[in-house]
Amino acid sequence: MRLEDRIALVTGAGSGIGKCIAETYVREGARVALADIDFDAAKSAARALGNNAVAMRCNVTQKSNLATAVEDTLSAFGGLDILVNNAGTTHVNKPMMDVTEDEYDRTFAVNVKGVFLACQAVVPLFRKQGGGVIINIGSTAGLRPRTGVSAYSATKGAVHTLTKALAAELAPDRIRVCAIAPVATETPLLPSFLGPSPGMREKFIATIPLGRLAAVQDVANAALFLASADADFLTGNIVEVDGGRCV
Ligand SMILES: NC(=O)c1ccc[n+]([C@@H]2O[C@H](COP(=O)([O-])OP(=O)(O)OC[C@H]3O[C@@H](n4cnc5c(N)ncnc54)[C@H](O)[C@@H]3O)[C@@H](O)[C@H]2O)c1
Repeated sequence: MRLEDRIALVTGAGSGIGKCIAETYVREGARVALADIDFDAAKSAARALGNNAVAMRCNVTQKSNLATAVEDTLSAFGGLDILVNNAGTTHVNKPMMDVTEDEYDRTFAVNVKGVFLACQAVVPLFRKQGGGVIINIGSTAGLRPRTGVSAYSATKGAVHTLTKALAAELAPDRIRVCAIAPVATETPLLPSFLGPSPGMREKFIATIPLGRLAAVQDVANAALFLASADADFLTGNIVEVDGGRCV
């Protein structure tokens, strides 16, 4: 068990990558708070994990929701060691001129402001206890953008830069901050990335040297490693889980 006695808070854990990270952490001995704006999804994911999981209603764009999620995690499990900033959204794949101001604002609010506010919510606690781990879910879109996902890609570039900035700033507090940059992953968000044009999935796969999309478990495996003691000397890394896409 690689996360024995660890306590984690995973945002956006009701679906897709976040749900698999929560499952993987529990399997490896952690207790996990699953926070999601979709409370029903979080509850159903937590229920399947038994007593080592608890669901929380949380909108990561709201500072007060994040403060409550941290407090509720402490009440449920008596501590917090790992924050996974996974909650994310996108506009549907389309030309940049068609992205509306509302779509731009919503994407930045969840993907960038949400990560920043969640870090602010845990850092005082991590400082007090002498350390902690923050893992941000970025994207290959922030490293090697494609057409049609302009605003989304910019949010993930921001997540990567924020990861490095916080890694430098928080290292004296023994707080490690890393990011994972998955390539297109089989989740409910995938059709939005691919867009409505036929054949996009095949075109996408053709650009990935290992010849397939990512599975949620590929990303969760990286999140497990980064949260574990095996990664004790890693901070500021952007770990590509992309079958070679960014080579
Ligand atoms: N699926 C991909 O191809 C892919 C690739 C690279 C990176 N990512 C990133 O992985 C992360 C997870 O995405 P996914 O593909 O699993 O999508 P998903 O839609 O399956 O899951 C996202 C979860 O986040 C929750 N969420 C959305 N807005 C929220 C908010 N304001 N507050 C709290 N929770 C909120 C949703 O309710 C959902 O449960 C995102 O950050 C996404 O950008 C996904």
